Amino acid sequence: MNCTKCKTRAVIRLPRHNAAFCKNCFNGFVHDQVARAIKSEKMFEKDDRILIAVSGGKDSLALWDILLKLGYRADALYVNLGIGGYSEQSHAKVTKFGEVVSASYGVTLHLHMLEQEAGTGIRELAQFAHRPTCSACGTIKRYQFNRVAIDKHYDVMATGHNLDDEAARLLGNILHWQDEYLDKQGPSLPASVEGFAKKVKPLYRLSERELAAYAVLNRIDYIVEECPMAKGSKMLQYKEVLNRLETESPGTKQTFYWGFLEKQSKKQPSATTMSEKDQAILQPCSSCSQPTTAEVCSYCKMMARAKGGFSGEQAARL
Ligand code: AMP
Ligand code: FES
Ligand code: ZN
Repeated sequence: MNCTKCKTRAVIRLPRHNAAFCKNCFNGFVHDQVARAIKSEKMFEKDDRILIAVSGGKDSLALWDILLKLGYRADALYVNLGIGGYSEQSHAKVTKFGEVVSASYGVTLHLHMLEQEAGTGIRELAQFAHRPTCSACGTIKRYQFNRVAIDKHYDVMATGHNLDDEAARLLGNILHWQDEYLDKQGPSLPASVEGFAKKVKPLYRLSERELAAYAVLNRIDYIVEECPMAKGSKMLQYKEVLNRLETESPGTKQTFYWGFLEKQSKKQPSATTMSEKDQAILQPCSSCSQPTTAEVCSYCKMMARAKGGFSGEQAARL
C-alpha cells in the first residue's frame, strides 16, 4: 500500500477518504482538517488566546500538539476528578506532556483538583447530590472550563471532541427527539451572554481512529483506558453502533454529522437567535455569578451539599 500523495510506503489507510498516507502526508492531512475546521467555523484567529481542556486522552493531547504546531497560542487546563488510579494516571500523562510543550513553546498548564475544593472525589460528591456520577462530572467540568477561561481572560475554550463523539451525541439527541439540544450541537458556540466563554471543537472533522493514529505516530503518550464510570454508557453504545455502520459503509459518521451541520447552516435564521434565547433565560447565579437558568447554579448546589454549607432555609429553596 503506497501513499496516495507522495507514493512512498503508506502507514495508514483511510477508507472514508479512499486514501492511504505515509506518516508525513498523514500529519499534513490531520493539520489540514483542523485548519479547515477553524476557518470554516470561525473558531479563532492567530492572535487569540486559547484554553484547551485536556483530559490525558489522545484527542485533547493531540489537539494541544496540533494547535501549537499550527502556530496558535494555546494553554491547557486539566481537572483532576479524584477517580482513584484513573485520575492519577491521566494526571501524570497530562503533566508529562505539559512539561514537554511548555519547554518548547512556553505555554502554561492549569490544574484544578476537585478533592482540594470539595474535600472529596466525584463519586462521593455525586452521591451527596443524588446524581449519576457522569452527569455530576459533566457539571463540574463545564463549570471549571468556563470559570478558568473567563477568570484568566482567554478568548476561547477548546475541547478534544472528535467526529465519533459528535456523531454519537447527535444520534442520541435524535433517538430521543431532544431537538432543543440540536442548536447547541455545532462545533463553535458563541459567548452568548456575559460570563460565558466561546466554546469550540476543532477536531470535529477527524475520527477517533485517525486521532489515535496521530497520537501514536507522533509519540504522544496518552491514557488508553476509558473512565471506569463510563462503562456501559449510552454514548459508548451509540459509538459501537456507528462503528458497525462505518465498517459496512465508510463515511457514514461523516455524512451523518457533517450533513447535519450543513442542514443547520442552511436553515432560515429563526426570529430569536441562540444569543437572544440565552439572554432571555439566563441570569447570574446568586452564589458564584456564572450564568444559570435557576437562582443558584447546579455547580453551587452540588458544592453546597458536599460542604453542608447552606442554611436550612437556603437548602429548602434548592
Ligand atoms: P469526554 O467527555 O471524556 O469524551 O471528553 C471530551 C473532552 O472534554 C476531552 O477531549 C477534553 O477536551 C475534555 N475533558 C474531559 N475530561 C477532562 C478533564 N478531566 N480535564 C480537562 N478536560 C477534560
Ligand atoms: Fe467524569 Fe468519568 S470522566 S465520570
Ligand atoms: Zn453558582
